[in-house]
Amino acid sequence: MEAFTQDLLKDKVILITGGGTGLGRAMAGRFLQLGAKVAICGRREEVLEQTAEELSSAYGGEVYRQRCDVRDPGQVHNCVDDVWQHFGRIDVLVNNAAGNFISPTERLSPNAVNAVLGIVLHGTFYMTLEVGKRWIEQQLPGTMLNIVTTYASTGSGYVVPSAAAKAGVLALTRSLAVEWAPHGIRQVAIAPGPFPTEGAWSRLSPTPELEAKMLGRVPLGRTGRPEELADLAAFLVSDAAGYINGEVVTIDGGEWLRGAGQFNDFAEVTEEQWDRLSELTRKGK
Ligand code: HXC
Ligand code: NAP
Repeated sequence: MEAFTQDLLKDKVILITGGGTGLGRAMAGRFLQLGAKVAICGRREEVLEQTAEELSSAYGGEVYRQRCDVRDPGQVHNCVDDVWQHFGRIDVLVNNAAGNFISPTERLSPNAVNAVLGIVLHGTFYMTLEVGKRWIEQQLPGTMLNIVTTYASTGSGYVVPSAAAKAGVLALTRSLAVEWAPHGIRQVAIAPGPFPTEGAWSRLSPTPELEAKMLGRVPLGRTGRPEELADLAAFLVSDAAGYINGEVVTIDGGEWLRGAGQFNDFAEVTEEQWDRLSELTRKGK
């Protein structure tokens, strides 16, 4: 079923951080289908290249790609500069890049905390500043969509750097919704429940038992489909949502209402099981 007219996002220039994989990639594809010009960024060139080629050949239109580590303000500046020059402007910024893994908090090193806060909170803030300053200087309107989580509002054990960082991003969303509205800049957020992407599942649900547990928490009895999130995102960044500002929309099958904080149940995991999970959830395992 087609929910939108095919020109919903016609000629909008949309930059998606972390657009090479998972939910970012799903949004990129949907935005293209709806007429947008899309730019994606991330750390891995080969992932960006493959996604850009696959999406362009599937949907037509151009996907511009730029390697960028959002933790580095210099790279963020260059990336935004480059996308701006390529398309002549940016209309929508989607802060989607994230880092996360399950761990008892007392096992975390300062580096592990920095890795997650750096991507989620600082990275989102750097991108927001870089794009927002240009919109304000050039008196251009714009929309920022931040992808948070349901536990941004409630907190959750065992993913504490992510919970703290996403809560910060939610505060950023609501704060700028007021401060930057007079400049014609809108802020919106999406709080997804569980969507089984490779990036999230390998770090948060690395065994069949944990996966089953995650599924069992959702009142609707299933995980989310990336295209469902992409449709919600398309609506929120479109002009049809022009009066929505500072709102966070939950898309989780009712999960958080049943018991806040997806990972709080992990109190049952033993120290020996954590040793094994710590190996499984490291990048590249
Ligand atoms: C404990 C860990 C760890 C783990 C890494 N570290 N993984 N500690 N358990 N599983 C520690 C390392 O030992 C190191 O500390 C520090 O973290 C940095 O690790 P690096 O691998 O060097 O970092 P880096 O290459 O920068 O990778 C960042 C990352 C990684 C966050 C650790 O997982 C990543 O690249 N993630 C990106 C994609 C992602 O996370 N996607 C999931 C999003 S899902 P020391 O002290 O040893 O140097 C999401 C919400 C889901 O956000 C909600 C579901 C409902
Ligand atoms: P994902 O595929 O792992 O997406 C994360 C993306 O961020 C990757 O493309 C990654 O690419 C990029 N990234 C990570 N660190 C980066 C950095 N330093 N600079 C630039 N890009 C970086 O996971 P996902 O599930 O699609 O997650 C997408 C968003 O949804 C995240 O904000 C996540 O918190 C949120 N979310 C997901 C779920 C879920 O169940 N899947 C639930 C709630 C919220 P590189 O590694 O190439 O840099």
